[in-house]
Amino acid sequence: MKPDFFQQIDRIRELPTLPVIVLKVNQMLQDVEITADQLSRVIETDQMMTAKILKLVNSSFYGFKSTISSISTAVIILGFNTVQHAVVSLSVMKSFALLKNLKRLNIRDFWNHSLAVAVISKYLADHSDKTLSSDCFTAGLLHDIGKLILAEYFTEYFEKIWLTAVENAISFVDAEKMENAVNHAEIGAYLAEKWLLPQPLVDAIRHHHSAFSSNHRAAAIISVADFLAINTRCPDSEGRAVLPEGLSDAPAFLQPHLQTLSEWYPRLQGEITSACQFFTEP
Ligand SMILES: [Fe+2]
Ligand SMILES: [Fe+2]
Repeated sequence: MKPDFFQQIDRIRELPTLPVIVLKVNQMLQDVEITADQLSRVIETDQMMTAKILKLVNSSFYGFKSTISSISTAVIILGFNTVQHAVVSLSVMKSFALLKNLKRLNIRDFWNHSLAVAVISKYLADHSDKTLSSDCFTAGLLHDIGKLILAEYFTEYFEKIWLTAVENAISFVDAEKMENAVNHAEIGAYLAEKWLLPQPLVDAIRHHHSAFSSNHRAAAIISVADFLAINTRCPDSEGRAVLPEGLSDAPAFLQPHLQTLSEWYPRLQGEITSACQFFTEP
């Protein structure tokens, strides 16, 4: 199945596409001379995006006291990168909202997991390498999109992997390995590349299950956040977060944060809840 798998993806006519605005914004931001006004004008061509960005800047995420009502102010306050990532994130979620065949995959649980990984990844990046913060939020949100492609367009195949995982009590990615299947990380990266998303996002999606052995810092962050989101009991009976086993191989630059997990992890839960409310409401 492997060699022609990507050709099969190419042949899917109704594969989700991204609105033109994403391409325009990504292209504009490659230009170092771009101004907040120019970027705002592009965003304002899309009413849904304009409303969402204003809602984002006025949401509890940022906690501004006065209400911000213009996109250009929002761009200045949030910064180009955050706006670019918000446009990408909102557009991808909107495109995938049209999927209809998902059987074994609960889309709400899927996005709740993805948003938890996004928030945890952003925290880890903020505290280890701030230049990666906005990449890490979006890459965290999109890391498993390959699973959506499998669940929607390769239903029998998805079912087989899913059953292998359940029967052997192993993770989805380990079931993929067991079946010698194309990895959902590769599929997600392939789609992200097709969508011309920025290369750091593509790389982080591609390596999110092989990050500990690669030198890719953003992917390592996503990988640790993914592990924490799945395995951390939070809080335990004494109100602490307990570090799950299996992270001793995590890269050295993240180890200090893992040692202090019980201090910061419970505090992120509120942020995860508000991210879920903001991004998943219609
Ligand atoms: Fe994954
Ligand atoms: Fe995941």
